[in-house]
Order: sequence, then C-alpha cells, then structure tokens
Amino acid sequence: MAIRFDKEKNIFLLTTKNTAYAFEIYGERYLRHLYYGKKTRNIESNPQKYFSFSPYPEDLGVSYSPDLFSSEYAFWGMGDFRTPALRLKGADGTGVCDFTYSSYRIFRGRHDLDGIPSARADEKTKTLEITMKDSVTSCTLKLCYTVFSDSDVISRYMILTNKGKNELEIEKCMSFTLDLDRSDLDMVSFWGSHLHECTYERAPLTHGLRSITSRRGSTSHQFNPFFALCSHKASEGFGDVYGFNFVYSGSFLCEVEVDQRSQTRVSVGLGSENFGYTLAKGESFTSPEAIMTYSNTGFDKMTLNLHDFTRRHILPEKAVLAPHPIVLNTWEGCVFNIERKLLVDFADEAVKLGFDMIVMDDGWFGKRLNDNAGLGDWFENRDRFPNGLGELVRTVKDKGIKFGIWVEPEMVNPDSDLYRAHPDWCLHVPERAPALSRNQLVLDMSRPEVIEYLKDSFRKTFHDVPLDYFKWDMNRHLSDVGSAALPPEKQKEVYFRYMKGVYSLLDWFVSEYPDAVIETCSGGGGRYDLAMMTYGIQIWTSDNTNPYDRTDIQASALMAYPAATMSCHVSDPRGSLASLDYRYKVAVGGMLGYEFDIRKMSDEIKKIIAKQIKEYKRFERLMRRGNYHMIASPVKNDYSAYYYVNGDRNEILLTLIEKKGCKKGETRRLKIKDAIPGVTYTDKYSGVSFSGDDLRRGITLPLSGEPDSAYLFYLK
Ligand code: DGJ
Repeated sequence: MAIRFDKEKNIFLLTTKNTAYAFEIYGERYLRHLYYGKKTRNIESNPQKYFSFSPYPEDLGVSYSPDLFSSEYAFWGMGDFRTPALRLKGADGTGVCDFTYSSYRIFRGRHDLDGIPSARADEKTKTLEITMKDSVTSCTLKLCYTVFSDSDVISRYMILTNKGKNELEIEKCMSFTLDLDRSDLDMVSFWGSHLHECTYERAPLTHGLRSITSRRGSTSHQFNPFFALCSHKASEGFGDVYGFNFVYSGSFLCEVEVDQRSQTRVSVGLGSENFGYTLAKGESFTSPEAIMTYSNTGFDKMTLNLHDFTRRHILPEKAVLAPHPIVLNTWEGCVFNIERKLLVDFADEAVKLGFDMIVMDDGWFGKRLNDNAGLGDWFENRDRFPNGLGELVRTVKDKGIKFGIWVEPEMVNPDSDLYRAHPDWCLHVPERAPALSRNQLVLDMSRPEVIEYLKDSFRKTFHDVPLDYFKWDMNRHLSDVGSAALPPEKQKEVYFRYMKGVYSLLDWFVSEYPDAVIETCSGGGGRYDLAMMTYGIQIWTSDNTNPYDRTDIQASALMAYPAATMSCHVSDPRGSLASLDYRYKVAVGGMLGYEFDIRKMSDEIKKIIAKQIKEYKRFERLMRRGNYHMIASPVKNDYSAYYYVNGDRNEILLTLIEKKGCKKGETRRLKIKDAIPGVTYTDKYSGVSFSGDDLRRGITLPLSGEPDSAYLFYLK
C-alpha cells in the first residue's frame, strides 16, 4: 500500500518502490515532517526541542516551536521565521495565518489542476489529501501528495478555498515545503542564457537562503526549475540525492534555506514577485505540481527515476511509443528565405536521404520576410506560396514525406495587421510604451478573445492542410505585464492567467490535431520544462548547435530529462566530413534531426547523411525508451561518455565524445555495469565482440587528441 495512516501513532507513511516519506499530526493540529529517504516502515516521532527566542502558542507551550518545527507546509506570521510557502492577505491586512489539521482522504488517481498540466495517473497512482483550516480567514487548504510508486516520485500541490465572507489575496504560493533535519548538502542546479542553457553548477549549502528563480514569465534559459540536493561526497553511483522539479512553464521560485539550527527548508512554487491572486468568497486556487525523488545510490538512480517518471507520467503516451521522425528543418540553412519551390526541392532530396519529415520554420506567413513584421498574422504569404499551403503540403506528402510547420502564437509584431487592429491585445501598461524584444510584443494570453482569435486564425489557415507537426516557438520574455482587460486589483494575476491561456491554446492544438507531433521551443531551451513536455515529446534544446557546446548542454539536460525530449539537430557541416561525423555523434545523444540547405550539399555529404539516418533508425527506439547512464560528465572531464541500455540489457549504445584539449595517447576506461555477465555482445559497426564481463570491467579506448573525434558502439 503506497499510502498508510497509522492511527495510533498519528503518522502518515507514503512509500514508493525504494523510498519512504513520513509526517505526523502533532498536538492534534500541526503537520510535522519526520522522514524522507530510503524505504522503511519503521517511523517514530521525535521529541520536539524548544530554543529561546522562538515564539509558541500559549496552550501548547514550549512543546511546539514553529521556528524549529519540521513543517509539511509553512505559513507566515505565527513564529516560523523561515521562508513561508503561503502568504495571504486577508481582511485584517496582516498576512498572519494558522492552518491546522482537520481531516484526510486517500484515493486512487489524482486531482485535476484546473487548467495547469500535471503528471498523468496510472492504475497504481494514489493521492493523499490533507485538509487544513484557518479559523480567522475561514479558508481551507488541501495539501495533496500523489505517489508514483514505480518511478520513486512523490508530487505535491495545494488547493486553497476561501470559505469566509471577505475577499483575500494570495501573495506567495509554493507547492510544498520540505524540512530536512540536515544541511550537510550540496546544491546542483543549471544556470545559463540564450545559446548557453543548462550550465551545470554544484556548490555546498551555506546558512541563509539560496534561490533559483525566473521572473521572466517563462521558465527561461537563466535557470531550469530542476535542482538537486546531495550529500557532499555524492557521485553518479554513491550518496544521498534529492531531486526536485516543477510542472509549470511560467515564473517560478525554488528556495533552499539553511536555518540557525542547520536544518534545511526546501520549497518550490510560483515566482513571488510577479504573482498575486485575489480569491472572492467561495473561490478556489490550485497550485501547479512540484515533484521530488530520492536516491541513496547517487545521481545515476535519481536520473533513472526522473526519466522513468517523465516517460510514464509526463510525455504524451502515444508519442513515447511512436518512432521519432527524423526532420529536416529549414531554419539554420535558409532563415526567412523560404518559398514553395524551395520546400518542394527540399522534399525531393529529403525523401532520397531517408528523412521522415520536412519542417518549414519561420517565414511562411503574413509579411514575415524578416523578424520585423508579421507575427500575429497567421495566414500564408501568397507571394511565396501562390497555390496556398494546402497544395504545398499535399505535394510534399505525395512524395512520401511528412510536413511540419513553425508557429509562435504568443507574439505579435507592431508591424502586423493584428496589432494595427487590436493594439490593446498585447501586454502593456497604460501610458507606457511597452519594451520590444526581437522587434516583438507579447500577446495578452490571459484574454479569452485573444485565444479565440488565434484558434480562429489557425483553424482557417490550416483547415485543408494535412500537417503532421507543429514547432511552437516563444522568442521573448514578458515585460510591461499589464492587461487592458483586468481591473487594477487583478493585475498581479496576469502572469499566472497568461500561462493558463497558453496551456488552453496548447490543449486546443492537441485536440484539433491529435495525430500531430508538437515540438516546443523558446529561442532553444528557454522553456525546457515538464509542463511543456506534457504536450509534445520534444523540446528544441538550444539554438546553439555547435557540437562542443552541445555536449555540455545535453549532458546536463539528460541529468533531469530523458533523451526522448531532447531535440538535437546536426547543422552547418561546412563541407567537413570529419566534422559532420562528429556533429552526428553528438546529436545522436538525443532525438536526431538536421538543419541546413540541403540543395547546397555535395553528393558525398548527402551519402553520409543518408547513412547516418539509416543507422540512427536502428537504435532510435533504444534512445527513446532505454535507460541512460552517464559514465563521464563533460563538465568535469575532457571527454563525455555515456550509454543507453534496453530493459533486457541485450542492446547497448555506448558513446565517447572527445572534447577540445583531450590529450593524444591517453586512454579512458568505460565500464558498462548493465552488461550481462557471460553474454557476448557484438559491435554492429566494427564486428568486434566483447564479453559482458569485459564490458562490466570496462573497455579501454585511446584518445586521439583530435577535437573532432568520437566513438560510437552499438552492442547487441
Ligand atoms: C528561435 C528558434 O529557437 C529557432 O530554431 C527558429 O525557430 C527561430 N526562432 C525562428 O524565428
């Protein structure tokens, strides 16, 4: 049983395959965290300690110190001076609230999160719902714990209902609090910028508050919402690792605070600077979902848990099962210079080379000849496509190849018919000129009429166009966030309502084009998050396709997200055969695609590409569904090495990528701990055989010292 309540001890115990999570009802009213770690069934309460200068409620006396208490959800104002999960502004204006335990319920499945994407339940998924009440505001708070046992993941979210007479405002809303009774931990997180996403960073916790956040209205390139806490000596195969993530694509806040008693408080939720939500009498607010996992055997297991969870519960079911289509995208080779003949020529070549899909990127609509104009005008450019989109797509598909198209629905150029007709449909603040970014403004996706306009445009433009794929882009962050449709007291809701609008349009795309693949993108990996992954299996990892940088970006991304989500394109081969081979070997770490002007490629290069595509198709399923294990991270080494293995462990893809600065003549030993002893594996490239025992002990490879050098072994 994944969720149990011990009535005698007043303890809730949540268990997954390998982990346990426990808390108790303390003093009949507060929820006290007891344990998160390796699976155990034997959980006991510990005596509380009191320290001076810690306030306490009169009736409980010094037996309860909010400031030290390991809380399941932290409130503001009653003597807990650490970072709170919830700050409300009620009728008294003070922000103080004191929710106490009322009841619990355990049920199969999970809650729907009111327009916010969440992890999909399966037949084993169960949820614990705890109801708490605050007598002064008359609010009820449901703390929800959904247990995904096979993946060793527990998710948390909350639902707040205003049952009082007065309106109240939510000023801060986190999806959970986790109070750990230790601080001997390092924090691993990914920072970055456009073209340099997912830069790995590991640093020991120190006293005080550390946060990673986005105030940009999207998850952003600056920080990914994934982070981990680990024991100081934790490595791939050793040590305690707690992994966290947030199923949301807007501004977020992840806080880690080490207090004056060296306990650590972790919380994940909505970015608090740009969030506020007014709840009228009877209204409810549901937070997005945060997830956590634990491994007592290092990062490798944490990664396996997160990958397994993402494949089973986040990615669209159909997409995980369907073969990944190898696309040829027009962007890097042609930028905005696209027209009918080019696409038809691309298709002719692409079919011969074994591609599955042509993707027509930016430049097909309105006056979109460059990035100054056109966003918002979602009708085809008839100068470029004189017979219309439908004719083009059917012509291409008749050649035996699928067709995908680029859209950026959330944006508008001031130079567009849409903006001229509805200048107040963009986010803006009255009397202030909104800031531009890439010459564009952001549409006010909190307005239903904007969403309806977009649905209408796409419905009309695509009504007889048999599209197989959408690349949904988002190329700027939100500034000047104000909505002409909301009163002043609701302006702080715009960031959250914006995301709900985006999700509702994505939901519409999924229902309108159920068989199409959706790839999301935000100037590369600016919205690489679990919520976006519920819509489309792939995310464009980065606009940076330079293989030297990509190796690092991909290695970090793979720590938290499976290869199935990671769109990796070979681009700009610059006529160098060695370089093309290297680019390919880097790109096969994820879902392969290509971006260049295929008309300009020599026959020799085309032959190589055709061979690469054929080869990739042999192990594509393994990449999409197999287990990933890092052997050597490129962040700490002069090379990168990893392998994928299938469930039966009889199929392995081993990769070694040399980085710049690799020393010629040195050797590296790569151990494949999943190889089966006594079984013989043969490399499909070289025909060389290895015993499973040898692979487990490690195969030794010499480094060439050439920056363009990489090894690929496909062992079966
Ligand atoms: C940014 C994306 O990351 C690129 O791949 C491309 O689609 C451009 N936008 C098009 O404007």
